[in-house]
Amino acid sequence: MYRTKTCGELRLANLNETVTLAGWVQRIRKMGGMTFIDLRDRYGITQLFFNQENNANLCEQANKLGREFVLQITGEVAERSAKNAKNPTGDIEIIVSELNVLNAAQTPPFTIEDETDGGDDLRMKYRYLDLRRACVRANLELRHKMTIEVRSYLDKQGFLEVETPVLVNSTPEGARDFVVPSRMNPGQFYALPQSPQILKQLLMVSGFDRYFQIVKCFRDEDLRADRQPEFTQIDCEMSFVEQEDILNMFEGMSRHLFKTIKGIDLPKLPRMTWHNAMKYYGSDKPDTRFEMQFVELMDVLKGFGFSVFDSANYIGGICAKGAASYTRKQLDQLTEFVKRPQIGAKGLVYARIEADGNVKSSVDKFYTQEVLQKLKTAFNAEVGDLILIMSGDDANKTRKQLCELRLEMGSQLGLRDKNKYSCLWVIDFPMYEWSDEENRLMAMHHPFTSPKPEDIPLLDTDPANVRANAYDMVINGVEVGGGSIRIHDAKLQEKVFEILGFTKEEAQAKFGFLMNAFKFGAPPHGGLAYGLDRFVSLFAGLDSIRDCIAFPKNNSGRDVMLDAPGVLDQIQLDELGLIVKEEK
Ligand code: AMO
Repeated sequence: MYRTKTCGELRLANLNETVTLAGWVQRIRKMGGMTFIDLRDRYGITQLFFNQENNANLCEQANKLGREFVLQITGEVAERSAKNAKNPTGDIEIIVSELNVLNAAQTPPFTIEDETDGGDDLRMKYRYLDLRRACVRANLELRHKMTIEVRSYLDKQGFLEVETPVLVNSTPEGARDFVVPSRMNPGQFYALPQSPQILKQLLMVSGFDRYFQIVKCFRDEDLRADRQPEFTQIDCEMSFVEQEDILNMFEGMSRHLFKTIKGIDLPKLPRMTWHNAMKYYGSDKPDTRFEMQFVELMDVLKGFGFSVFDSANYIGGICAKGAASYTRKQLDQLTEFVKRPQIGAKGLVYARIEADGNVKSSVDKFYTQEVLQKLKTAFNAEVGDLILIMSGDDANKTRKQLCELRLEMGSQLGLRDKNKYSCLWVIDFPMYEWSDEENRLMAMHHPFTSPKPEDIPLLDTDPANVRANAYDMVINGVEVGGGSIRIHDAKLQEKVFEILGFTKEEAQAKFGFLMNAFKFGAPPHGGLAYGLDRFVSLFAGLDSIRDCIAFPKNNSGRDVMLDAPGVLDQIQLDELGLIVKEEK
């Protein structure tokens, strides 16, 4: 037996026991004739004690060890004179009687402790060492627990976990595909699934009724803190259901996760229409941990000679409670913030509610106190509040800019506490959105999403205003999951493809197998998929989903540890019939 105990379990109750431990040297401290070593494994850290007086030979050996050496030791559990309340094993130490070096180690490139001196790049290059740090390991332990609870909940609800293939054809989730050349079919390529969407719908046609899969999905898109090129979905589908059934089932799953993992009783989730989310928060994933809803001000501020507002198609603002004390410098910084190219606003107007109740604004010369009081009333603003206003030609664009400002103010005022959770459903998404790039309507969710039955007549007359039976679950401003009721009627599906600009032939070539399957008795069905990485990050309070993925990619989509992607040698290229263009 390599060990009788782990480095995390010994307490005063184990005094005088003889134990064998195995693990890594975290730290060595030498004090006079005594040497202390912190021995680490997955479960914790235990202090080892070597004393020159008791065993000079062993103490010499201990003094020669280095960080990250792998040891096996045997010794007796003793009470420590200087206890460490921060460490669960901090009351005891092991008086070592046998030391066996299982493996030596080079000095690691960074310190393997929660507070490390390793920068991002270095830690990613040596990710296997980074994963030895307790704080990183804790995120993966949390991920494991969450998947166990997901499986337990869905299993109890009668869901079957079914694996779907990874070598498939293009799946329509709107990103670019990762492709894999086929050696046996020269000139042809598989695409890795952006999601198992079509396959899970086919499983419903097969009668599986309740399916789920914790599954890798692949999307070649620009990376951000909440996006990885390969990520994991909790993918689910149900038959003979309406939207309400799905919302209830998966609200139940979230409630189960919050309760079992965080000990939080999740209240009934509020629902917000997409339209209201855009109107009041400028986002389809509003962060509802704090209020600060948008107020539209066209009626209040247009027509007083301030040309910026007079020429605008949208004027809106937010009221930051208690922020009237913002200095001129802070307000200038906010203006700079909204003018950054990523946000692209032209400027920012502000108004403070002063101690006497008067409103003092940056555009006072255009507005009388009477008008400014109307502004105050529009926000229900009080003494000490700060009103921030933006305007623009394009209402949706300006709302998005105002959304960025709202989030920034929320952060600055400490209203986005990571330990507080605010969850909701956003419902009634539009079926389509206009793409300037493609110059056509695109599916907002995906082309298999069903329109709301009452909006089906609009498909012929006003498709841009058709609402879908689609929904997202949003937690703290993060879209953790989304789904829809699907079209199960081949004729309606054909019509939707037509509006998306597919000719009959194109639709047949791309999705013919699905439409054909629908002709063999497709049940009404719908589902959703959660982003597991995002869910775990929210529970762990992480800024990036990278930190809950064992081996993530960096922002250029590279695995710096494996040095992937890499070039292929000529033999492989020839076998695959691929010609690689020379880099210029
Ligand atoms: P959707 O595209 O909304 O829906 O994806 C579902 C959820 O997956 C997560 N997600 C991501 N997480 C990390 N990195 C990414 N690049 C990434 N892209 C998406 C999000 C998102 O809410 N087939 C449909 C689901 C359905 O209709 O049932 C789908 O894939 O948390």
